[in-house]
Amino acid sequence: QGDPRLKAISEAIRVVPHFPKPGIMFQDITTLLLDPKAFKDTVDIFVDRYRDMGISVVAGVEARGFLFGPSIALAIGAKFVPLRKPRKLPGEVISESYVLEYGKDCLEMHVGAVQPGERALVIDDLVATGGTLSAAIRLLERAGAHVVECACVVGLREVKGQPGLNGKPLYILVEPR
Ligand code: PRP
Repeated sequence: QGDPRLKAISEAIRVVPHFPKPGIMFQDITTLLLDPKAFKDTVDIFVDRYRDMGISVVAGVEARGFLFGPSIALAIGAKFVPLRKPRKLPGEVISESYVLEYGKDCLEMHVGAVQPGERALVIDDLVATGGTLSAAIRLLERAGAHVVECACVVGLREVKGQPGLNGKPLYILVEPR
């Protein structure tokens, strides 16, 4: 919107054509992490939005949701819960699979990490089809949490209101370039 910080955040994200496959314009947030001002502004925008929303758990999606989620969780006084790819978590888990362009993948969450009635924010670097966020939402809802919103640094506005997101609001900072 009118926030002047968003332009610098967008410009700090490197676009790598044809990675990892022909035709894909890869949105590389590692260059955003190299820019301390843009990186801090990114976290600050999320923190300002979520600090007074009663959120007790920030759930980050492996791998790049781990780069933003913990900073936000610490700043708003919430716990951080990693949603991991299969067979990474050592304890008892619940799993949700989701469809990829070719094949499928799965996210897992530790049983007991989230209590019924908790208010959750889901964070990832990027949303494309929304399949990954949908699996994250299902995991949190199975644990009895209320998903307040999903937040991504980069995404297409069209993904908002998508059925897979199960009516959950989606907040995006910048569009892909
Ligand atoms: C990317 C991205 C999101 C997901 C978005 O992760 O970081 O998690 O894809 O895609 P979707 O909206 O179509 O589901 P990726 O699957 O590349 O995994 P990685 O972060 O572990 O490399």
